[in-house]
Amino acid sequence: MEINKSEFVKSAVVEKDYPEFNNIVEFSFIGRSNVGKSSLINSLTKRKSLARTSKTPGRTQLINYFLINDKIHFVDLPGYGFAKVPDAVKKNWGKTIESYLISNREKIVFLLLDLRRVPSNEDMEMLKWLEHFGIEYYIIFTKADKLSNNEKFKQLKEIRKKLVFKNEDVFFYSSLKNTGREELLNFIGKRIAE
Ligand code: GTP
Ligand code: MG
Repeated sequence: MEINKSEFVKSAVVEKDYPEFNNIVEFSFIGRSNVGKSSLINSLTKRKSLARTSKTPGRTQLINYFLINDKIHFVDLPGYGFAKVPDAVKKNWGKTIESYLISNREKIVFLLLDLRRVPSNEDMEMLKWLEHFGIEYYIIFTKADKLSNNEKFKQLKEIRKKLVFKNEDVFFYSSLKNTGREELLNFIGKRIAE
């Protein structure tokens, strides 16, 4: 699949504000703050600043919807686990994410994990949530440019010790170098053709 059209649709917090469903399948990007969700959307769409990115974690606080090829939605979710926000705000983000997950949308979730880091408790909780709600999800390891091939697989082994995920197939991605882009786009293309 190639992306030749991408546009911002709207931001939302609660389900009634999500864009009209219209049978549009949505692919959502979830993960801790700063893991690279917005950068990945920009890399996939080849747009520098379609989704806002930042060195400061916690940049995306709303659910942002993008329409891709007039056919599917990409959903940029707020990141969890950013320590430097007040508890009340954290609680709101948690609610925003939870209500998204339990919403009635036809969704496929990509859980993003930083390849260099040991998964946090929140990552593990997120995985449990996804399994509990029976949501179709896949794992994408981000910032793959920061490790050599050898280090990548060593790190993956370490991560698997801590995090047990169903699907053996995982994606490696670098938004900096756009590696993994074609593979992920092909996967998305196939998934919507089913
Ligand atoms: P929140 O909106 O806070 O939840 O963060 P996010 O997950 O959307 O992260 P974002 O895309 O804003 O990226 C955070 C930082 O990581 C930025 O400084 C990016 O430039 C950097 N970054 C993202 N992806 C990559 C990558 O693949 N490689 C490298 N080296 N840096 C990356
Ligand atoms: Mg973001």
